[in-house]
Amino acid sequence: MSRPSDLNTAHSHGFSRRNFLAAAGGLVAVSALPSFAKDDPSVFPERGAVERLVLAYQHIKAGATEPFSILHISDTHLTAAYPEEGEGKMQAHNRRIRTFGGRQEEALRDSLAWAKENVDYVLHTGDLIDWQSEANFDLVKKFYGDRMFGSMGNHEFYTYLPDEVHTWKEPFKNRSWPLLKAAYPVDPRFSARVINGVNFICIDDVFGTVQPDQVELFHAEAKKGLPMVLCMHVPFFTEQIWRAHEKFWRFRTRKFRAAAVMPDARGDYKRQLEDRTTSDFIAYLKGEKLLKGILAGHLHITVQERFSPTAVQYVVGGNFMFHGQEVTFS
Ligand SMILES: [Fe+2]
Repeated sequence: MSRPSDLNTAHSHGFSRRNFLAAAGGLVAVSALPSFAKDDPSVFPERGAVERLVLAYQHIKAGATEPFSILHISDTHLTAAYPEEGEGKMQAHNRRIRTFGGRQEEALRDSLAWAKENVDYVLHTGDLIDWQSEANFDLVKKFYGDRMFGSMGNHEFYTYLPDEVHTWKEPFKNRSWPLLKAAYPVDPRFSARVINGVNFICIDDVFGTVQPDQVELFHAEAKKGLPMVLCMHVPFFTEQIWRAHEKFWRFRTRKFRAAAVMPDARGDYKRQLEDRTTSDFIAYLKGEKLLKGILAGHLHITVQERFSPTAVQYVVGGNFMFHGQEVTFS
């Protein structure tokens, strides 16, 4: 079942009527939703919107004062751009929409509609947008309600313009902080929110690593003595999660190899092992009894593994493919 696009809510984000019409025209033109809706009302036209969601179900015994639940989604990778944003953005749009299928906004909308009926809060662990555009930021403002919280992903920092050089280092992010602070209602580097006595701590670790000021802030949260759930984009890799990552992304044409073979660390995992602040933080977390769970994304696959004696790390698959997980807490 498809729902009509609710573009009229763009009014609440400061559009003049004239701009709104232009913007709405832009959205209609680029999101591809209405044309899909006209020709082919749904991925599975005979199934309801809820049935199109690919949901996993997890439970965390955190010591909540009252039971509650969240929908955890990640990696929606919105690829909207207004034509007036220029040729570079439209080229990025045309290229990246092919990567992510063109139904990302629909997937997000269905997920949030399901969440409204079924859970208390929504957690988004980053890559809500695929790259920075006015149209994407308008969608962020439109969809990020007060019952939603989360963290940034690496794609929140990208422009996908031809001159962009990705460094995977902190200074790369500096240009983006003001933009992200303006677009997202959560602090993009560190935020904490207590729900029924459980402290959800969202940190930016989008290049795999954390920074000393974030570790200090985390320790200040830990001093409150509440059970904690760490929410972030890139998982803190453990053996099975790294294996699954490499099986999916690197060795996708191979069957499972001997269990004794652990793929070499590279990328985010290598940075986590080599960066002292991050490796010390991970070592501390493994002994932190207040840590009851970790919720992450980035990998586009659903995988989980015990992280510490008190916490399991749950990685959720890509929301652009209609994935999400309900996490219940007691
Ligand atoms: Fe990512």
